[in-house]
Amino acid sequence: MAASYLCLRAGVLAASIAAGAAAFFLLPVKPADAAGDDARQLAAEITVMKGDGRRIFSAALSKRHRGGAEARLRGSLAVLPLLIRAARDKSPSPAATEENGRVERILRALDKNDGAAVMEGLGELAAAYPFDTTGLLPPDNRPAALRSAKSLDKAYCASCHEVPDLTAVRPAWNLFKLAQTIPPAELAARLVIGVRGDRLTGLDNPLRNSEISALIAYYIKVR
Ligand code: HEC
Repeated sequence: MAASYLCLRAGVLAASIAAGAAAFFLLPVKPADAAGDDARQLAAEITVMKGDGRRIFSAALSKRHRGGAEARLRGSLAVLPLLIRAARDKSPSPAATEENGRVERILRALDKNDGAAVMEGLGELAAAYPFDTTGLLPPDNRPAALRSAKSLDKAYCASCHEVPDLTAVRPAWNLFKLAQTIPPAELAARLVIGVRGDRLTGLDNPLRNSEISALIAYYIKVR
C-alpha cells in the first residue's frame, strides 16, 4: 500500500491521498528538473496518446484492453485543451482555438472508429508539440544507475507492474515487456505521464529526470 499513490493515471486520486501522505517522505524531494514542467507534460501526454492510438487500432490489445485504452485516450483528449492552455500561459496565443478544433476532430474520428483520421490528428498534435527528451534519453545505463533503478522499481513499482492484473480494463502493464514493444522516447513519455505524485507533490511526477533515464535503461535491458 505504501506506494499506491504513485500511479494515478487511473484516476484514483481520492483513495490514494491518505496512503500518499505517509509514503511521500520516502521519496526524493521534488527537484528542479522534475518532469513536471508544463510544456514537457503536454508533449509527453501527446506522445502517449499517439502511442495509445496506435495500440488501439492495431491488433495489439484484447477487446477489453482496447476499450480501456480508448477510454483513456478520450479522457486525455478531454483535458488536452487545458494542458495546452497551461503550457501556453506564458505566451498566450490565438492558435489555441485551432487546437480545440483538432481535438474535436480526433474525438469525432474516434466515434466513427476511423483509425487513420485519429492517427493523422494525433500526428499533427505531436508535430506541433515535439517531446523534448533532454535529460531522459539516451537511457542512463551506467552500472550505478541500473542498480538504483532496480531498487527503485522493486520498492515502488513492481508490486503493481510485475504481474499485471489482466482482468482490469486498464492494467498496470509489465514495464519490461512494454519497453520491448515501444520506442524509448515513448517509454520516456509514458514514465513522465504514468507516474504521478499526490496532493503533496502537486500531482507532479515525483521522479527525477535522472531516475527516469535510469529506469528506461533498466526496463529496456532487463527482461
Ligand atoms: C498501486 C499500483 C501502482 C504502482 C505502485 C505503480 N503503478 Fe504504474 N500504473 C498503475 C496502473 C493501474 C497503471 C495504468 C493506468 C492507466 O492505464 O490509466 C499504471 C501506469 C503506468 C505507466 C503507463 C503505462 C501505460 O500504459 O502508458 C507507467 C510508465 C508506469 N505506471 C510506471 C510506474 C513506475 C515507474 C512506478 C514506480 C515508480 C509505478 N508505475 C508504480 C499502477 C501502479
